[in-house]
Amino acid sequence: MTRQSKTVITFGTFDVFHIGHLRLLERARGYGDRLVVGVSTDAFNESKKGRGPVFPENERMQLVAALKCVDEVFSEESLEKKREYLLRWQANVLAMGDDWAGRFDEFSDICQVVYLERTPAVSTTAVIEKIRT
Ligand code: CTP
Repeated sequence: MTRQSKTVITFGTFDVFHIGHLRLLERARGYGDRLVVGVSTDAFNESKKGRGPVFPENERMQLVAALKCVDEVFSEESLEKKREYLLRWQANVLAMGDDWAGRFDEFSDICQVVYLERTPAVSTTAVIEKIRT
């Protein structure tokens, strides 16, 4: 009997790609056999973080798609569509950084929800600040 493959899904902006992003994606992939990544659109990022991204969505998507640990990417347009995305991609696991801890527990009726520890001391915001100063 062949084992059912397990799909993991995660979401993020992944702007100014850094080591915290890579570690999160590699660990997320470790929860299954296929990793699908929802990359925030420029407009969604603006509404979520109050500023536009440095790199446009098509470039951020290309960078994430090129990683060995990533199988599929798509545009994430809004938080409200999360359930629709989970169902569309038939996700077995939703993996998010622990800055979102507890925020997606409502989806545990359709998939396993895991929160992964963030890599300390690095963020897109910190990198932008460092370059600025
Ligand atoms: N992430 C992580 N460790 C970090 C930074 C981010 O594990 N040091 C994870 C986040 O928890 C999230 C994913 O990477 O699951 C995408 O995060 P994103 O918001 O795109 O990156 P940040 O660096 O947190 O961006 P910002 O500073 O703009 O909030």
